[in-house]
Amino acid sequence: MNNRVMIFDSTLRDGEQTPGAKLNAQEKVKIAHQLARLNVDVIEAGFPISSPGDLRAVQQISREVKGPVIAALARTVKEDIDCAWDAVKDAEKPRIHVFLASSDIHMEKKLRKSPEQCLKEAVEAVRYAKSLTNDVEYSLEDATRSREDYILKVIEAVIDAGATVVNIPDTVGYAVPKEFGRLIKLIISKVPNINKAVLSVHCHNDLGLAVINSLTAVENGARQIECNVNGIGERAGNAALEEIVMAMIIRHDEFPYVTGINTKEIYRTSRLVSKLTGIPIPLNKAVIGINAFAHSSGIHQDGVLKDKRTYEIINAELIGGQAAQMVLTARSGRHALRHQLEAMNYHLDKEEFEAFYQKFIKLADKKKEVYKEDLEAMLIDVSYTEPTYELEYLQTVSGTKTIPAAVVRLKKGDTIFEEVASGSGPIDAAYKAVEKITKIDTNMENYNLRAVSRGMDALGEVSLKINYEDKNIIGRGMSTDIVEASVKAYLDGINKLIRIISNSNNNHNHTTAAAKNKECC
Ligand code: KIV
Ligand code: ZN
Repeated sequence: MNNRVMIFDSTLRDGEQTPGAKLNAQEKVKIAHQLARLNVDVIEAGFPISSPGDLRAVQQISREVKGPVIAALARTVKEDIDCAWDAVKDAEKPRIHVFLASSDIHMEKKLRKSPEQCLKEAVEAVRYAKSLTNDVEYSLEDATRSREDYILKVIEAVIDAGATVVNIPDTVGYAVPKEFGRLIKLIISKVPNINKAVLSVHCHNDLGLAVINSLTAVENGARQIECNVNGIGERAGNAALEEIVMAMIIRHDEFPYVTGINTKEIYRTSRLVSKLTGIPIPLNKAVIGINAFAHSSGIHQDGVLKDKRTYEIINAELIGGQAAQMVLTARSGRHALRHQLEAMNYHLDKEEFEAFYQKFIKLADKKKEVYKEDLEAMLIDVSYTEPTYELEYLQTVSGTKTIPAAVVRLKKGDTIFEEVASGSGPIDAAYKAVEKITKIDTNMENYNLRAVSRGMDALGEVSLKINYEDKNIIGRGMSTDIVEASVKAYLDGINKLIRIISNSNNNHNHTTAAAKNKECC
């Protein structure tokens, strides 16, 4: 048996059935083009009878997207099949995908039809589809909860009627790997004409087993897997395309099968699907989640820096993603911090680095995770001039029924100053206390606050512009506490102002002294 496994992507059909994931025609076409770049074997573009919009989208995909087979879903009803054919007939490689339930519960309760009636309908539908195109897939909905003798009969009959692909869906995600593998093996060994069709599987993820069920089916003879990008789909979703493909690559020793997927397009496809469907990729999603390549613990980071293979089994570049991103924490050592800084092109000498490391540790104590953006912001901070006034202590009160007030303690050399003030808010109160201490009364031209990185505990960065006589000065400050960031920014501005004034005074004094010397010579 050959080891090539067909990847049937149903992101645009079953994936679009995810609550809230409705796509318009333009979006579906865009994703279909990307799926072609990903090199899937089949794109199930939609269920054309379900809406005129879906019909138009499948038609456009069929006309524009070259490479993969373009399939359209249909019930075993002539009107559905005609509509599906209308949608895919212009495709380079069209397929009609017909389905009907095979479990007692679905036939009895949902369809209210007997098994014999369903079998007859299935055969007639496949024959009709076959009269339109050669490539016809038949799916036995809820196959894993069906009687085995019944499904064996249906499979043989639909292949006789012309089905080229027979699909065994685990519609409600009920199967477990061992039993699903056994079912596939049984079909291969008991259906006499099975070699005339490709055996396919379609697993839902209600028990989180969709991927392993699909892989087990392949081990037992299935050669087409139906799956969706990011694992989206009805309820808990379908088997995730990227997980199946990467499992076959990374554990080729255990799953010695190949697909035609261009893995370098995985990352891009995943982001596009997430963006257009509006379904976020969980941070810890296998293969493509943001955290899948992030190392947080110090021991892991140290290991990865020495040799990536210590904690990384997938090279991010293989899926078209970026190189590993360090999320630094208080447990990250100096090695990880220096590596990150150098990757950002900041080369600090020993002393500078040590000073920066102490700053970093202070921040990491307050903030769980330190991102590249935080480091960048702190590095700008490092270049600040030596402060004249330093913030020693800050306490503010504010609230709906309180007069906002602040206690500010500043240090200048060895001297400590402390003042209390009230204001329209805690920041205004703190600024007034600073003015009492420094005796510099400035005009605030503008004030901006932004989050430097991600999360509720993100660093807040304040940048402001103060005017004093004819001077305009920019001050910057950062903290996880926005009042503290505001005071630091204000002090930064005041310290710069003091320096400018003292420099111009010194220059003035020097010029006068030089003039005097000249006079006396
Ligand atoms: O889950 C399912 O049974 C399906 C079929 C239409 C293939 O999506
Ligand atoms: Zn499904």
